Amino acid sequence: MEIKQEFVDGLREAKSVVFFTGAGISAESGIPTFRGKDGIWNKLKPEELANFNAFLKNPQLVWEWYQHRKQIVHESKPNKGHLAIAEMQELLPEVIVVTQNIDNLHRRAGSKIIYELHGNIERNYCSKCRTPYTKEINLDEGVPKCYCGGLIRPDVVWFGEYLPEDEFNESEKAARRCDYFFVVGTSAVVFPAASLVYTARQAGAFIVEVNIEETEVSRFADISLFGPAGEVLPAMISKIKAE
Ligand code: OAD
Repeated sequence: MEIKQEFVDGLREAKSVVFFTGAGISAESGIPTFRGKDGIWNKLKPEELANFNAFLKNPQLVWEWYQHRKQIVHESKPNKGHLAIAEMQELLPEVIVVTQNIDNLHRRAGSKIIYELHGNIERNYCSKCRTPYTKEINLDEGVPKCYCGGLIRPDVVWFGEYLPEDEFNESEKAARRCDYFFVVGTSAVVFPAASLVYTARQAGAFIVEVNIEETEVSRFADISLFGPAGEVLPAMISKIKAE
């Protein structure tokens, strides 16, 4: 994978850069992706785990799955890809992360402006009165319930649910404003999140794809950098820093 000098020179002058990330950026931290050969959705059915009706039908099962994923997240740490994105903040005036991931790893890596389009596995709220719920979940005590009687649920976006409005609006503004829009470790097939790539492109941003394989974005990206994000992004940083 070659990172062209001309591209690096342009990037050095950027005023605003967006990193739109997906499960692939966390793959090198040991968190499974959704699609592809070893993807979660190859083994499990989204309709049985990631939608509200499934939760109402079997909250125990859905909670067990999220507690399992939370455990994986707690055992993992940000990798070189997350850290490279955080380091970009020292090199450019504005760096915004828009992520579909719920794993909190961008925050732990030190990124400051992060819009989480699909929620965050560390947060929960009451599905009835929407009160945030911060207490650690212990399934031995049964499925967690709010004082109002409603079921507590993870603060993540399930299939058929709206994205958090403020985060999506801010992400759209960032996509329209940025000079460079990086699409990192995402198959970019889940909408409305993936629409941001098209918003950025329409607004004239330079689209940079970072992935281990071709995706929907490859056919129109201005540059595709193929390789693991944990290698490509640090290599790019080194080039930006080099005299
Ligand atoms: P996917 O699993 O669809 O795609 C992961 C992408 O990461 C693929 O394009 C891989 O080729 C790429 N990839 C894997 N390892 C990589 C690495 N080391 N470096 C760079 N790229 C790598 O995951 P998402 O696109 O994030 O939604 O999926 C989007 C949404 O679908 C998720 O947020 C989730 C899921 O259903 C909800 O749960 C609402």
